[in-house]
Amino acid sequence: MGEPLEYDVLFGHERIAARVDELAQDIAATGHVQLIMVALLKGSFLFAADLARALHSAGVQVEVDFLHTSSYNGAETGRAQVQIHDMLECDIAGKTVLLVDDILDSGHTLVQVLALLQAKRPARILTCVLLNKLERRVVEITPDFVGFPCPNRYVFGYGMDYEHQHRALPYIAALK
Ligand code: IMP
Ligand code: MG
Repeated sequence: MGEPLEYDVLFGHERIAARVDELAQDIAATGHVQLIMVALLKGSFLFAADLARALHSAGVQVEVDFLHTSSYNGAETGRAQVQIHDMLECDIAGKTVLLVDDILDSGHTLVQVLALLQAKRPARILTCVLLNKLERRVVEITPDFVGFPCPNRYVFGYGMDYEHQHRALPYIAALK
């Protein structure tokens, strides 16, 4: 057994649920009644599931699709590399896409996924992230919808992992 995990709860389950409902209302207020949600795995799976249901309740029809992304530091370049597994099944050409991720950190993931999606000629892409670590931004990107600003700490829970564990926690915690 390792050391017990020391953490603070940053966002509780009820607070997250209330904010997800508000985000759905804000997205519905753009006037889109149909969207293709493209969620980035694995971290956004719970957020995307809750947001899809909240959008349905807000009167927005949602098709759901996924890309699998992971970031790592390239051994040769020392720079952040993003690996994107394109497994989209929906044809997004001419449609409005809602791109959903758990955390916007350096911005590399979202910028590279946006380029990949733009090449498929959607009518429009809206971006929505649950957490925004503004201080950590390396490339310029401003999401259309943000759940919460996030302090510069490693967070996990509500879909996000710490060493492949803790994704199923109903709240978002930060390591001490
Ligand atoms: P970016 O490409 O640097 O913006 O990183 C975004 C990705 O890094 C997100 O999709 C998350 O999967 C992951 N990430 C960034 N910060 C954290 C964190 O504090 N906890 C868990 N995952 C994180
Ligand atoms: Mg991710």
